Amino acid sequence: MPATIIIGSQWGDEGKGKITDLLSADTDLVVRFQGGNNAGHTVIVADKTYKFHLIPSGVIFGKPCLIASGVVLDPAVLLKEIAVLRENALEPKLVIDPHTNIIMPWHQELDAAKEAVLGERKIGTTKKGIGPCYADRVNRTGIRFIDLLEEDLFREKVARNYADSKLLLESVYQQSPRYSEQEIFDQYHEMGASLRSYYGDVGGLVAKALKESKHVIFEGAQGTFLDISYGTYPFVTSSHTISGGVFSNVGIPPMSMDTIGIVKAYTTRVGSGPFPTELTDKLGDKIREIGKEFGTTTGRPRRVGWLDLVMLKYAHRLNGFTQLALTKLDVLSGLDSIKVAVGYRLADKPLQFPLSLKQLEQCEAVYEEFEGFEIDSSLREWDQLPEAAKKYINFISKTLQVPVSMVSVGPARKETIMASSGEQ
Ligand code: GDP
Ligand code: IMO
Ligand code: MG
Repeated sequence: MPATIIIGSQWGDEGKGKITDLLSADTDLVVRFQGGNNAGHTVIVADKTYKFHLIPSGVIFGKPCLIASGVVLDPAVLLKEIAVLRENALEPKLVIDPHTNIIMPWHQELDAAKEAVLGERKIGTTKKGIGPCYADRVNRTGIRFIDLLEEDLFREKVARNYADSKLLLESVYQQSPRYSEQEIFDQYHEMGASLRSYYGDVGGLVAKALKESKHVIFEGAQGTFLDISYGTYPFVTSSHTISGGVFSNVGIPPMSMDTIGIVKAYTTRVGSGPFPTELTDKLGDKIREIGKEFGTTTGRPRRVGWLDLVMLKYAHRLNGFTQLALTKLDVLSGLDSIKVAVGYRLADKPLQFPLSLKQLEQCEAVYEEFEGFEIDSSLREWDQLPEAAKKYINFISKTLQVPVSMVSVGPARKETIMASSGEQ
């Protein structure tokens, strides 16, 4: 297949960064197609840990990295990432699509103000301005990368947006804007100048690469259940995180692509919202500690729970996974037994993944229990895996009817088993 889509199958932080980096060795282009710096993708190479919020994880292998129109871009964050890469003697081959919307200071202020007003009902956003920036995009009032590069138009757009957001902040949220209009114009105009050389037609470049039979990776951010339409709305992000989002967010026609669902061997979620297999006990704390489940972007502790195959079946329905990469299997090592949700029940009746948030909040998970196993991060071959671990992996694969092609047993590149086991 000419292209691979990498998708988080749960609520994000499945290890998309690690797998994208790994697969980038054999690709020609890596593209981010949605989300913004709410994402935090960790890539560990030798003794260096990189945390990418915007730059596609293919950058370490020196691959051209493209930011497509579906992304919302905070230029300050991007410039910082470029600086960190340069400190490490890496010069990113970056291209930014002109249609990409820019996150402005008022987006961050509105994001935080809205959350404060929601109180107990808050979404638990990253407060990076993602929702308000996408709202402006849909409202047709947003500022795009191309606008940042056209001085007169940019001045006019800043003036209009500044006035609107000031009114909203003052009248609804009783808050004053943190910066003046002039300060914002000056700062963003300068950042635009620093990013000017990265301007390029991302959709056109991807279409050309695909036509020339080059290989392209589309690196998803967030996860399926944070999708704006099909996730656990309103406890979701503001973009389409599912595989279908690639086409409209990059500007290429639909075509068949390999779609890898990244599945963490258990489930985590940051922020509010229902979580049927959540572990709120000591075992949950233990998995959080061992798995270092603290947000890459915000540092918040991630909520932890058992693997949920009801969710994953729905995720497969939405994304059409052709392969699965099972990550963080080592984190479950040493547990006496491991549970997996195989069904839900509500009022004593079985239930598929409910489309009603209320039902999802109220339903109970039905578990199948598996024997525990020991995983050593030095394992490299499928045959070296303990039988109990193989049974766990094969059960996931059989239930979803999708092969598990990779099993990750540690954060480093080499801590990966290319499974493609005959067993499945
Ligand atoms: P992403 O947002 O999907 O890219 O995932 P994050 O980077 O936010 O979170 C995944 C975390 O788990 C990172 O700290 C990774 O370094 C780490 N990680 C990835 N795969 C594995 C694995 O197989 N085992 C362990 N122990 N850690 C892993
Ligand atoms: P990666 O790409 C996990 C969550 C936030 C919050 C909700 C809405 O690293 O997997 P937002 O700031 O997007 O408006 O917040 O979405 N969220 C993530 N959770 N991983 C992410 O990205 C996330 N990006 C957003 O915690 O619940
Ligand atoms: Mg993350």
